[in-house]
Amino acid sequence: MTDQENWQFETKQVHSGAQPDPTTNARAVPIYQTTSYVFDNTEHAKNLFALAEFGNIYTRIQNPTQAVVEERVAALEGGTGALLLASGQAAATFAVLNIAESGDHIVSSSSIYGGTYNLFKYTLAKLGIEVTFVENQDDPEEWRRAVRPNTKLFFAETIGNPRINVLDIRTVSDVAHESGVPFIVDNTIATPYLIRPFEHGADIVIHSATKYLGGHGTTIGGVIVDGGSFEWSKNVARFPGLTEPDPSYHGASYTAAVGDGLAYIIKARVQLLRDIGAAIAPHSAFLLLQGIETLSLRIERHVQNAQEIAEWLDGHDDVSVVYYAGLPTSPWYSAANTYARKGVGAVLSFELKGGVEAGKALVDNVELFSHLVNIGDVRSLISHPASTTHSQLTPEQQLTTGVTPGLVRLSVGIENVADLKADLERGFAAAREVVAAARASA
Ligand SMILES: Cc1ncc(COP(=O)(O)O)c(C=O)c1O
Repeated sequence: MTDQENWQFETKQVHSGAQPDPTTNARAVPIYQTTSYVFDNTEHAKNLFALAEFGNIYTRIQNPTQAVVEERVAALEGGTGALLLASGQAAATFAVLNIAESGDHIVSSSSIYGGTYNLFKYTLAKLGIEVTFVENQDDPEEWRRAVRPNTKLFFAETIGNPRINVLDIRTVSDVAHESGVPFIVDNTIATPYLIRPFEHGADIVIHSATKYLGGHGTTIGGVIVDGGSFEWSKNVARFPGLTEPDPSYHGASYTAAVGDGLAYIIKARVQLLRDIGAAIAPHSAFLLLQGIETLSLRIERHVQNAQEIAEWLDGHDDVSVVYYAGLPTSPWYSAANTYARKGVGAVLSFELKGGVEAGKALVDNVELFSHLVNIGDVRSLISHPASTTHSQLTPEQQLTTGVTPGLVRLSVGIENVADLKADLERGFAAAREVVAAARASA
């Protein structure tokens, strides 16, 4: 076999983790729609359960279709292993619970997806895990000040949703490492095609595979990728769950059984996925794989369209501000040039001069842009975060995550950009009418 490690991204996205099916010679990855797998004999069964041998036991814990996606995403990110789960939220939950428990503390940027913010602030609190939110993720001192003896991890998004702020991965990971904790990053908006966080010091990467990895707005999924570089066994006191015997797994120590490079991702599978069960269906894994195979091609077009629309909006008379790190006016333009040289993704947001009412009129009058709360579809999408994704947060919390009342968010698709501009222009015209009518009646 060729040297797969040295394949380029475009080759890995099509081939990593897969070979023709050994039983049927099927070229495409089959959907292994089975709950369970026959053991060769009792010795084989014993070895599988003892982690002495890797293999399929039960689809809640692993499945061959799922395994191809895991190997492929691990290859694209440059990690040692991955775990595919039922959703991005499951990935964030597992990523934290794998190393933090009641009485522990984590530090997270506040500039994150509203659902993750809720998970951290309310649900983790109910489980006894305290969170300190860093308001300015660009300030290393704020991260440093937040660290406590019981801190277990740092968390941030490589490109923040919806502020489109580009994370200085190296600086924050340096602070995490000097504090003895791993840095977990959500790489959903960037994808490994634009940013490979492990190359800049991150330790664990998570994705909502629902977005650009799947890419077609059909399938919910999430993935955790282990960079394999964090030395858990040198931090025995802080991470006993990885280093000490696990009574729920024959007293196995994960670092002793599989080494530092795989301990985290194996524990997430054999302990958390076994117990919590947020497993992905084989059919969903198959659909995500279809998306991953064209990832670079789609992202190139997504980014090209988004950059052109951002520049066009920036010069538009009806727009007061555009948030997109591909614009020189963005405070994150220089970070984008360091970390995301191929582009800063295809999510951008902007404010209309006409305020909230103009924003609503725009959203109601476009046709190609679908009004819904997703990102990363081949189709262009539009939303108003304050009334949807971030509506469960208080107005103050909304502001800390970057959401102002009149903010409109676009997820720019791969259609022809001229059609997209014409569609938005129709919305702007409707918004102007609404604003003019309000002025006339005032
Ligand atoms: C950046 C980011 N992370 C995580 C999630 C959660 O993913 P999922 O909807 O697949 O649970 C989302 C969803 O919008 C997201 O935008």
